[in-house]
Amino acid sequence: MCGIVGVLGHHEVSPMIVEALGRLEYRGYDSAGIATVNAARQLDRRRAVGKLVNLSDLLVHDPLPGKAGIGHTRWATHGAPTVSNAHPHKSGPVAVVHNGIIENFRELRADLAAKGKEFFTETDTETIAVLAETFLDQGLSPRDAAEQTIARLHGAFALCFLFDGQDDLLICARKGSPLAIGHGEGEVFVGSDAIALAPLTDRITYLNEGDWAVLTRNSVEIMDSQGRRANREMRIVQIDTSRIEKGGHRHFMAKEIAEQPTVIAEALQNYLSSDGKSLNMPAALPDFAKVDRMVMVACGTAFYACLTAKYWFEQLAGLPVEVDVASEYRYREPPVTKGTVAVFVSQSGETADTLAALRYCTGKADTVLSVVNVAESSIARESALALPILAGVEIGVASTKAFTCQLTVLALMALKAASDRGRLSDGELATRLAAVRALPGMLNQALDRGTEIADISRRLAEARDVLFLGRGPLYPIALEGALKLKEISYIHAEGYASGELKHGPIALIDRDVPVIVFAPRDALFDKTVSNMQEVMARQGKVLLVTDALGAEQAGEGTWKTVTMPDIDPFLAPILYALPAQMIAYHTAVAKGTDVDQPRNLAKSVTVE
Ligand code: M6R
Repeated sequence: MCGIVGVLGHHEVSPMIVEALGRLEYRGYDSAGIATVNAARQLDRRRAVGKLVNLSDLLVHDPLPGKAGIGHTRWATHGAPTVSNAHPHKSGPVAVVHNGIIENFRELRADLAAKGKEFFTETDTETIAVLAETFLDQGLSPRDAAEQTIARLHGAFALCFLFDGQDDLLICARKGSPLAIGHGEGEVFVGSDAIALAPLTDRITYLNEGDWAVLTRNSVEIMDSQGRRANREMRIVQIDTSRIEKGGHRHFMAKEIAEQPTVIAEALQNYLSSDGKSLNMPAALPDFAKVDRMVMVACGTAFYACLTAKYWFEQLAGLPVEVDVASEYRYREPPVTKGTVAVFVSQSGETADTLAALRYCTGKADTVLSVVNVAESSIARESALALPILAGVEIGVASTKAFTCQLTVLALMALKAASDRGRLSDGELATRLAAVRALPGMLNQALDRGTEIADISRRLAEARDVLFLGRGPLYPIALEGALKLKEISYIHAEGYASGELKHGPIALIDRDVPVIVFAPRDALFDKTVSNMQEVMARQGKVLLVTDALGAEQAGEGTWKTVTMPDIDPFLAPILYALPAQMIAYHTAVAKGTDVDQPRNLAKSVTVE
């Protein structure tokens, strides 16, 4: 959360920084700001509340010259989104931008206040600038002042300093939050990720945990947490910047929903043999015949991918799976016994709680593996094996294509586990894989229901509460449908296992509460339909999402029925994720909310 950028350039850097911040706005959009050192070597800054466009407008009227600068887009943690709380924070000759939380800021602040320092904001970040200024006051050089400051900070952070009088110096540090250095021709860049720097350079060095770096236009000096010079590999990271554009769609979310058949086909190419008839999974994956249990840990949508996968691993492979949300798992001190494979699922690969849970399992589980979208992320780099989901850059805060790509990779892993454990013959595996290969075509057919779903969603937009029901592997899809709807339309929504309804939530049912039921014609269909009838008997307004046979058998009396193509029940959760996403998207559009950047949220949750 929060995006940071730093540039030592040849030209005016403000426009460059604003553009790079645009690529980081997915990390937060409560306020934005930049600071530069100008030709007279003076430090100055501009800050604006709300989205980046407000900062751009401010800079039109009040430009900020300078060829050295830092910038920030904020997701507020300490203090409301106001101009004074916006970064860069400045104290005397020091400006700093920061992502993360300084956990000991109260002690530091009290200490500094006792020494007569004044504070003007409610943020933890201001403490960093004031502390650095104190060291400068004692006569330390900017480099030594930064080193002393960084050493006194506890918590998880990435930060970048800029100093008055220094137009060829940036000092940055990483502890718990990612940070990348970009190498240009006589220019140097700092960014929260490589996407921010993509059009500027493809030569990237990722800082390791605890590293800090002193940058000039012609030198990059990296130190590890012990202050020793460290060599960090420079990699070529090519990011197709067209994937960071909306490509004719009204929103990134719409584009990302539409991309699913293509990106899943790409993922299948990677994980299936060239004729598509056998699995081509990494050799480093464990032999699941030797595995006793699996632990799967994630947050939000990625957690629902794990919940879905639990059905697959248990039913197909007979492998016990424990699934937990990372924020609970990390502090529960769960026993991790020998024979355990620990799996961490994350789109960004930077989610603080998931990363902490991974670190908890490292050294305890037999294998620590991750299923990630961002291949260079911390979670990927700290796993023994990282399986990329190959969804491409996902910008919309509401996760869509990453979810179905996570499901696809986990489904293939479950097939491998079933095969390893002798629960699936070669013939049965071939039949399953034939169904998997047909998935992109099925997803295209699901997308064809877009107009119909948009019509229904205009009515859903009037609701105050919406319930989602599913059974078996469609239960996590009900949870995901509810999460998607609430996060972008702000309508209160809950997902339930349909069998749970009569244990409480049925009390909510009346004609004003739409109930969305995901029920393909599978082995559990009749059970789900009975629960649906219980809703309709109480005048509940049911939107049934099913297949042709399901519609024929249970469509009568529903408020609306949306028909999906017939699919192997094993793959139904992946297919039914699309109507869940489209319902949320079109409802949010009908309500006029900010689809890609919903209030209070950020794409990458790097604080706990
Ligand atoms: O990057 P991650 O997959 O680890 O993120 C986990 C959640 O923060 C994320 O899925 C969140 O719930 C999405 N906004 C849901 O659409």
